[in-house]
Amino acid sequence: MIKNVTILKLNNGGAMPIIGLGTYARKAISGQYRQAVEWGIDAGYRHIDTASSYHNEEEVGEGIANKIQQGVVTRDQLFITTKLWNDQHAKKDVIPAIKQSLSKLKLDYVDLYLIHWPVSVNEKGDMNIDYMETWKGMEEALELGLTKSIGVSNFNEQQLTRLVQNAQIKPVCNQIEINPTLTAHKLVECCKQLSVTPVAYTPLGLISEARPEFIGKDVIKTDPKLGSIAEKYGKTRAQIALRYLVQRGIAVIPKSFTKSRIEENINIFDFELSEDEMKIVDSYNIDHRCVPGLAFEKLSNYPF
Ligand SMILES: NC(=O)c1ccc[n+]([C@@H]2O[C@H](COP(=O)([O-])OP(=O)(O)OC[C@H]3O[C@@H](n4cnc5c(N)ncnc54)[C@H](OP(=O)(O)O)[C@@H]3O)[C@@H](O)[C@H]2O)c1
Repeated sequence: MIKNVTILKLNNGGAMPIIGLGTYARKAISGQYRQAVEWGIDAGYRHIDTASSYHNEEEVGEGIANKIQQGVVTRDQLFITTKLWNDQHAKKDVIPAIKQSLSKLKLDYVDLYLIHWPVSVNEKGDMNIDYMETWKGMEEALELGLTKSIGVSNFNEQQLTRLVQNAQIKPVCNQIEINPTLTAHKLVECCKQLSVTPVAYTPLGLISEARPEFIGKDVIKTDPKLGSIAEKYGKTRAQIALRYLVQRGIAVIPKSFTKSRIEENINIFDFELSEDEMKIVDSYNIDHRCVPGLAFEKLSNYPF
């Protein structure tokens, strides 16, 4: 099991392991999420990221329960995140939504509950609910002990600043896409200024993506400069990308269904990139978004 995982202090005094296991997949076969969570906990992950919209909370919960039952971990050693979906942004819907997630996860509380996107939409169309209203429901979830912390995801600088300035309870984090081809320096700086921890989703970015629309943009997969850095430390390109993010003080939540990659991705705490190497990784930035949320593009509060 990997030791020395950095623990980040949150603005409410809580603590979050800097690496978590992502669990979103477009396609999965039965048991795959549970298996990934079990391999993850065995490999040393103590932070797991799910969402109601991933439709995997039951299996994620099974994996957690199995590892607790086997005595590998206790509940208080784990940091579990789930998220409120866009059709449940009315204040009255937040508590029922988190209770439903908890019931699927078979947990009494989560460690972090996030507003998944600043947009609100249901089958009838744009609900145009102000996320400040949703936030009041999030604050209530915290007060009821259903979650230890609350935060947001996919909020841009203006949205995050407005939320922090007007909230009774500050968000502890903003989960956003960050990777070597979307370095997001301005938004990360804004998060840090506001004492909001940035969490990088899709942290491998174009290193992992194989969708045809990315061909030509994915030089990072073959560029010899990155290859040399990886070779120097006996690591892979993926590990260099993750290390680059954690060295910027950003939490990462890589997803994998592959046991060896789950183990590989957390094995990044025994080396340090130099300033020059950090600059090389930074130079791959092309502001390319793997998750543009195009389905929400026409909605009020679309962040990008
Ligand atoms: N808040 C949001 O709106 C939002 C949006 C997107 C994602 N997320 C969260 O962030 C997590 C991570 O993002 P993501 O899943 O989009 O992207 P990612 O973690 O950057 O990449 C996942 C992909 O990379 C592959 N992979 C994993 N480790 C690898 C390695 N060492 N070398 C090469 N390829 C590797 C995986 O394949 P295999 O599984 O086949 O190994 C998978 O196809 C999600 O699972 C989810 O929990 C949140």
